[in-house]
Amino acid sequence: MSLRLGDIAPDFNAETTEGPISFHSWLGTGWGVLFSHPADYTPVCTTELGKLANLKEEFTKRNVKVAAISVDSVESHNGWIKDINETQSTTVNFPIIGDPEAKVATLYDMIHPNASDKFTVRSVFIIGPDKKIKLIISYPASTGRNFVELLRVIDSLQLTANYGVATPADWKDGQDVVIVPAIKDEEATTKFPKGFTKIKPYLRMTPQPNK
Ligand code: BEZ
Repeated sequence: MSLRLGDIAPDFNAETTEGPISFHSWLGTGWGVLFSHPADYTPVCTTELGKLANLKEEFTKRNVKVAAISVDSVESHNGWIKDINETQSTTVNFPIIGDPEAKVATLYDMIHPNASDKFTVRSVFIIGPDKKIKLIISYPASTGRNFVELLRVIDSLQLTANYGVATPADWKDGQDVVIVPAIKDEEATTKFPKGFTKIKPYLRMTPQPNK
């Protein structure tokens, strides 16, 4: 059965380009992103992993570890990393999991047989400190992902976890956020000292609490 939001991210042991990992221990007490790409030595994947390497600091700042995976060996990943570094002007600075037998890919349902019976699609799992899955997205092989959008989602998830607020459509860091319906007006008054605007009884906006 496929994984759903709120499920515990399955634990696994695997070889990676940074040595063996036991996934849950490797995540520790922080957040994690596990993302699959179809295959090593392919053009879109090369740009994606390069982009992520260049943005890695932004993930680290948010206490998020990142790991890539495909159904290739660690030896293959290590060879490809040289090309990524050369062509994307970067240094790959996160582990790439070797999964030649597709054990982890199967555990996470990353192979979608009607898209490809052999390769993983571009799956993304964001995992919270409680090891629960907070986001799942799947992109086709032909579309490279937007890693800045992933950072935006992480900012939203962390605001929800830390302040009990939600974020509206197209929200960007620094803009007003939404007070969730579970918080009554009286509680909102003390919880959000910057105040809030009640547009409708169910639509209340407040300045971003951590700004
Ligand atoms: C790519 O990464 O460029 C790619 C991989 C598989 C299918 C299509 C594109």
